[in-house]
Amino acid sequence: MSIETHGLRKQYDSTVALSDVSVSVGDDVQVLALIGPSGGGKSTFLRLIGGLERPCSGSVSVDGKTLPDGERALLEWRKRNGFLFQAFNLFPHLTAEENVILPLVEVHEISREEATAGAREVLSRFGLGDHLAKQPGQLSGGQQQRVALARAIAHRPRWLLLDEPTSALDPEMKAEVLDLIDELRQNGQRIILSTHEMGFARRAADHVVFLSGGRKLEEGNAERLFTSPETAEVRSFLQKVMKW
Ligand SMILES: Nc1ncnc2c1ncn2[C@@H]1O[C@H](COP(=O)(O)OP(=O)(O)O)[C@@H](O)[C@H]1O
Ligand SMILES: [Mg+2]
Repeated sequence: MSIETHGLRKQYDSTVALSDVSVSVGDDVQVLALIGPSGGGKSTFLRLIGGLERPCSGSVSVDGKTLPDGERALLEWRKRNGFLFQAFNLFPHLTAEENVILPLVEVHEISREEATAGAREVLSRFGLGDHLAKQPGQLSGGQQQRVALARAIAHRPRWLLLDEPTSALDPEMKAEVLDLIDELRQNGQRIILSTHEMGFARRAADHVVFLSGGRKLEEGNAERLFTSPETAEVRSFLQKVMKW
């Protein structure tokens, strides 16, 4: 599936979050990573691609279809994607199982019976079969993020959008969640993620977009971008963050 953006711009009051961002992601790309310094525009870019927000100007198209304007059509667009954003956003008063079931029933209009079976299947696959009845507060950070991932993929989204999926986790849990994302990748899931995990981005992504100050500084094949960045800013960023 291809993704093209043309002159994407998003401004919040006086803050320009994205400015004139055009990217071209070919059909052969399965995993796209967004990297760059904090405040660079990664989350904003993900929200625009996923149809959670509209750009001030510019366009997004996926498979040659342009992101629609109308609220209803935009909702359909959103439903085809799976989202997992930075902070855990599980419902704290619901069990792990119910957290996965609820959007299947309410948003995707799947019968409760089918949703329950689907939720149990995906949670078991993610190693959470013994934790179905626990609420998020009774689970570790890594387990919570695995529930959130299960919820994001339970409706079999075309694209899985992950916004810094491991940034709130300690190292061991980080590894367990990255392993799971890698497994989804190996099973053919298409993924767009923002991350500060440079080793993971380099290994798992096919294509990388580097955003800084709301602008795209570079994009290209992951291995190429990591081995020979074209701009001084990208080179200096990579040297800094990959030093340790
Ligand atoms: N909802 C918002 N309201 C106001 N400013 C925002 C909002 N979202 C993002 N910004 C600003 O836009 C810029 C880009 O932010 P963001 O997309 O979150 O970058 P990143 O994810 O790379 O850290 C930042 O300056 C941020 O403060
Ligand atoms: Mg962000």
